[in-house]
Amino acid sequence: MSLEGVADLLAKELAGLNHVPAIGLGSGRTAAKVLSELGTRLNRMGIRPYGVPSSSQIKLELSELFLITEPVFERLDMVIDGADQVSSENGYIIKGGGGALTRERIIWEMAASRHVFVSKDKLVRRLSFPLPVEVIPFGYTLVKQKLAEMNLRHELRRDQRGYPVFTENGNYIVDVYYQEDSDLREVYEGIRMLPGVLDVGLFIYDVNIHII
Ligand code: A5P
Repeated sequence: MSLEGVADLLAKELAGLNHVPAIGLGSGRTAAKVLSELGTRLNRMGIRPYGVPSSSQIKLELSELFLITEPVFERLDMVIDGADQVSSENGYIIKGGGGALTRERIIWEMAASRHVFVSKDKLVRRLSFPLPVEVIPFGYTLVKQKLAEMNLRHELRRDQRGYPVFTENGNYIVDVYYQEDSDLREVYEGIRMLPGVLDVGLFIYDVNIHII
């Protein structure tokens, strides 16, 4: 179905609720595009939904269509997001290419339903996109050492001038490389428990995937 078609359906679903919808706003260009279609439709119906943004990027893009707010709701009605790669084999999703993984996971966890939009090239059988890991700077040396012990090649994410990239939580991102046949859930679990690691960008959820 086209992006516009899905936006129509989701807008109708949200307009049918008996309260003002509260929506988790994922990050990235794709999420911005879909959410702008959805927000425009809801605004036309006279509804200005609450939007809980996962990054400043999405907040700035959507502040005219959504009432931007903190995650103060017990539950969000829906989350709309993009992804870096999706496995057609097991539904595992990699997120964090934009560094917003920790906040994205929080709004995913809070949401009653999840809709992820990706272009066809991001749907692959075996995941290969480097696994983003958000690391507290104080723990960086330890995490580096532990990743080396786990035989996981990794790289501190830097900008074009070589400066470390900081997340909106003030942390580093370390991109971790793995073998095509690695058990990614195991890799995820191993990294997630390292002291200093805030989150790891492997998302395993019940989710509606839309290829656009
Ligand atoms: C942000 O941290 C990411 O998870 C994004 O959702 C992902 O990088 C997709 O972004 P694009 O839609 O811009 O490719």
